[in-house]
Amino acid sequence: MARVFVTRAVPGEALERLRRAHDVRVWDGPLPPEPAVLREALAEVEGLLCLLTERVDAALLDAAPRLRAIANYAVGTDNIDLDLTRARGIPVGVTPDVLTEATADLAFALLLAAARGLPQAAADARAGAWRTWEPARWLGAEVDGASLGIVGFGRIGRALARRAEGFRMTVRTSADTELEELLAQSDFVSLHVPLNARTRHLIDAAALRRMRSSAILVNTARGAVVDQRALIDALRNGDIAGAAIDVTDPEPPPVGDPIYDTPNLLVVPHIGSATRAARARMTELAVENLLAGLDGRPMPHAAG
Ligand code: DGY
Repeated sequence: MARVFVTRAVPGEALERLRRAHDVRVWDGPLPPEPAVLREALAEVEGLLCLLTERVDAALLDAAPRLRAIANYAVGTDNIDLDLTRARGIPVGVTPDVLTEATADLAFALLLAAARGLPQAAADARAGAWRTWEPARWLGAEVDGASLGIVGFGRIGRALARRAEGFRMTVRTSADTELEELLAQSDFVSLHVPLNARTRHLIDAAALRRMRSSAILVNTARGAVVDQRALIDALRNGDIAGAAIDVTDPEPPPVGDPIYDTPNLLVVPHIGSATRAARARMTELAVENLLAGLDGRPMPHAAG
């Protein structure tokens, strides 16, 4: 029986399977453990189930000398120094596939919400500004038949393309079109790349300038794929028409961050995978990974 630390209460039944096999402690705070607290908690721990809110770096690994398996409760791994875990022989597992459709749904929901100005229309209705049927107010962009640029054509990018077919959209992807052309030709641009050294600030001021002034940017990938300051400027200057983002840099944005009063910017709190079914399946995959890693078997969903 190994000692396992789980950095937050995760939904679904699967944690019980882990409890039956190992000595499991679940952090029960509403916020992630502070790094120093987490380091202390890991002193004797062999298995770690962590979230994208935890940085798995040299300081954390040094504080966890007995650690021999890590299950990340996410498909992304940008919170984990994989070179380091590899060098130390600690397997890392992720939760692919089970969140693909939920995340693609959210990307398309954001696209539609931004296209039709839903946040503003809903706020106006609540505020009593709906006095009559308005022929020339609350006008948005047509999605049917529009062009969609998908940057990153992995599982989630492909799932988004399937949704776009139903709206008869012209789809260009980074697998078939240079980024500059894709940005210039798209009414909507949706980001689906992992965050790494090559994709950090992929969408910078220059990239935003290439987009159409009528275009809408959707980001359900990672906040730092976009230069957030440049995005705020582009929206304030009207260089692009709108953006809808599920991810920010940093996350969450601090109170008073300009992101909260930028026009035509819809921000939601990193809920791409937040369906009950997807989150329960993520727990199952994380538990399968941890059980395998602690048994010395290959993790079924190992990080790439
Ligand atoms: C992930 O899995 O990487 C998401 O961002 C959270 O579900």
